[in-house]
Amino acid sequence: FCSRRYRRQTEPVADHYEVSEAGAQALGIPSLRWAEPPEGPVVVLLDQTRLPAEEAELVCTDVPALVQAIRTLAVRGAPLLGIAGAYGVALAAARGFDVDEAVEMLAHARPTAVNLGYGVRRAAAAYREAAGRGGGPQTAAAAALAEARAVHAEDIEASARMADHGLALLGELLPGGGHRLLTHCNTGHLVSGGEGTALAVARAAHRAGELRRLWVDETRPLLQGARLTAYEAARAGMAYSVLADGAAGSLFAAGEVDAVLIGADRIAADGSVANKVGSYPLAVLARYHHVPFVVVAPTTTVDFETEEGADIEVEQRPGSEVTELSLPYGQGPGEGPGVGVAVAPVGAQAYNPAFDVTPPELVTAIVTEAGVVSPVTREGLVRVCSTSRWS
Ligand code: MRU
Repeated sequence: FCSRRYRRQTEPVADHYEVSEAGAQALGIPSLRWAEPPEGPVVVLLDQTRLPAEEAELVCTDVPALVQAIRTLAVRGAPLLGIAGAYGVALAAARGFDVDEAVEMLAHARPTAVNLGYGVRRAAAAYREAAGRGGGPQTAAAAALAEARAVHAEDIEASARMADHGLALLGELLPGGGHRLLTHCNTGHLVSGGEGTALAVARAAHRAGELRRLWVDETRPLLQGARLTAYEAARAGMAYSVLADGAAGSLFAAGEVDAVLIGADRIAADGSVANKVGSYPLAVLARYHHVPFVVVAPTTTVDFETEEGADIEVEQRPGSEVTELSLPYGQGPGEGPGVGVAVAPVGAQAYNPAFDVTPPELVTAIVTEAGVVSPVTREGLVRVCSTSRWS
């Protein structure tokens, strides 16, 4: 079951934040929090389908509601999916829902972001370990919640470290400062307990006085760039411009892009990067124009069980997301992403992969919380992922 609480964007920001101090300052409302009202524990989401028109919280009281929120992208982005998955297991345990069933449902809610299964598995392992030690249901539920909180806290820490490593890398790649950075999709506080991945690096550059402009790809079809990244950039006081995805080529040709910064949903063992559809064309453009193409992702996004890019399962989404202009909730005739104003003839077929895969040879560097991999090779990934978690 899900219920909504609404806050207009113009209202003063929220009262308290459980985990995310830095992100909260930037955004006003945490993208996800655990709460324990008298009626029982809930997972509270900032409903991303309603942004930027409204800051509305979505209160999930059970796992099917959370799974639905994941599928409709009310909660989205690889690191946050991991956090949501972990809290989802904790919610099931606390509410007496079948934990094995919850694990199945949550882990398969969306296929591409490896972090989702990671978060689910961590909380489930903590639950099972506590139950196996003879702890009762309450003890096991508390163990799952503690693990979800740990996943959340680690993401905040990783986010800060990626920002540091990424800023240093930009300094090496672009020694003149005054960076003009192009980004795609949304990789900021909305996908994280902290400031996110690629957008965290852009924000660090902004704080250091080194960001001249953030170019924000609108990111069709669901407009995560125009709706969400622009929303975050505006709140952070960054100089930014939104562009139609198809305008990126002329922007490169005009010499207006110094580097591309994107996140990732899954990085295969060979360094292939799955990210929001439209990332691969940017990598090709970047290579042609001799511009660095930098991926920022926590080590939890690297999946050594996926050998190469072709093995990554790319989520296919409903064609209506392409054939209808999907407006935020409340701004179109329908309810939900992909429901809006028809922009193609009735019955038009559509091709709508949610992600694409960029081969490692087009990626200049992968920035993780444990360091930078460049050139992008399997050996480099193994080295960074197996050194201390925080180096
Ligand atoms: O379909 P979405 O909106 O969940 O896709 C998100 C992305 O592709 C992000 O770029 C990715 O998760 C990296 S976020 C750090």
